[in-house]
Amino acid sequence: MKVRLYICLISLSAVGVVLLLFEMLTLNNYAVFWAKESVPQSVEAGSLRTVNSSILILYWTTVFGHKVNITGSDEQYRWPFFALGENCPVKCELTTNKSRVGEASAIVIHGRNTEEMPTSSQYNTVPWIFHVNESPRFTTAFLNKNIMQKFSYLATQRLDSDFPCSLFLKPKLAKPVPFAQKTGLSIAIYSHCENVRTIYLHRLMKYMQVDSYGKCLQNKPRIPPGHRLDTVMAKYKFVFAFPNSDCDYYMTEKIYLALSSGSVPVWMGTDTIDEILQWGNLKQSVIKVRDFRSPRQLAQYLTWLSQNETEYNKFLKWKYKGFEFPKEYYSSNIGKWWEGGPLYCRVCMKIAKDKHVRSGLNVDKCDGKERRTLEKWIRE
Ligand SMILES: *[C@@H]1O[C@H](CO)[C@@H](O)[C@H](O)[C@H]1NC(C)=O
Ligand SMILES: *[C@@H]1O[C@H](CO)[C@@H](O)[C@H](O)[C@H]1NC(C)=O
Ligand SMILES: *[C@@H]1O[C@H](CO)[C@@H](O)[C@H](O)[C@H]1NC(C)=O
Ligand SMILES: *[C@@H]1O[C@H](CO)[C@@H](O)[C@H](O)[C@H]1NC(C)=O
Repeated sequence: MKVRLYICLISLSAVGVVLLLFEMLTLNNYAVFWAKESVPQSVEAGSLRTVNSSILILYWTTVFGHKVNITGSDEQYRWPFFALGENCPVKCELTTNKSRVGEASAIVIHGRNTEEMPTSSQYNTVPWIFHVNESPRFTTAFLNKNIMQKFSYLATQRLDSDFPCSLFLKPKLAKPVPFAQKTGLSIAIYSHCENVRTIYLHRLMKYMQVDSYGKCLQNKPRIPPGHRLDTVMAKYKFVFAFPNSDCDYYMTEKIYLALSSGSVPVWMGTDTIDEILQWGNLKQSVIKVRDFRSPRQLAQYLTWLSQNETEYNKFLKWKYKGFEFPKEYYSSNIGKWWEGGPLYCRVCMKIAKDKHVRSGLNVDKCDGKERRTLEKWIRE
């Protein structure tokens, strides 16, 4: 039931997300947070940010037309993120019940469902949070000044947003399939055939074996729903993690799945990924398309690497040695996301503290130097 609901949530990167969800949703008991908590004190509008009262966060919109399902246990808080966890230091509640708007300390709107935003100005006295995990390229609200002006906080993939919630989760340390048992060379799985990445992949295919399971340049049977993507990836030496746009901080769950699976991701996307890959043994864990002038050069390198176990395994050092993060990592934006509490607990903590609500967010165009062009990726 739940799995099915979330299957509908994300259209663009459906397969990956579904499998990720499947994995996370099957993780643990489904203890609903609210049952365990004492009923929050009723809070009068206006006294919302007093220390003793419970902070109520109202998720106002649907997500792609689906009602948000609030879950609570810590195991699930990373995704779909509609959770507080069990040990939030401030009293905090998350609801989708619009009748409680008078009690709410903040209102959350999904960035792809802004047509459902409240129209009455009476709700403007509390901060609004713009939440979305999609690329700004495909989220037109980001471009709309009138819409963005209504918001005080951003909860997106951007590591510099008020509440970063990147789909690049902390990868798992599970041991990789040994080199000799990785029978596949490289794998691609995506179904939104954005031009540039598809052309790039097409050219790569001239020089090396790429098994494509998604709708784009498909040459392998579709992976059945419910089948774990990372176990398929695990048998390959390389996973092409090519998101559909090059916007700052836009990183999908593919990169997380590829790393977790014990394969080596080949990344064609924003350079801001370096903010994550700068830490500890993740430094040499991802191959970046940016470092190669052409698909031919990349294919040559991957082919060479696939034949040299010593060199290849250097990319998996983090799996064997652990992350070995320095202490500065813990205060970095990604450190806070990977190690910090559940998203809505952090929202509550901020709302409880922030007396002055900033007005208006900037538009995020993801154009100019960030726009994806073939020339940027193929330079020969
Ligand atoms: C929401 O989650 C609860 C708890 O897991 C589950 O029982 C319920 O069926 C879910 N609702 C929907 C609409 O998926
Ligand atoms: C808040 O709680 C503390 C301790 O529980 C209590 O001493 C204090 O009077 C309360 N303040 C208000 C405004 O209710
Ligand atoms: C929504 O909130 C109102 C007001 O607190 C309450 O009367 C109602 O039962 C709630 N609805 C649901 C479905 O919980
Ligand atoms: C693998 O690469 C190393 C250099 O790092 C080299 O010394 C070694 O001979 C190579 N092994 C094979 C089998 O090519």
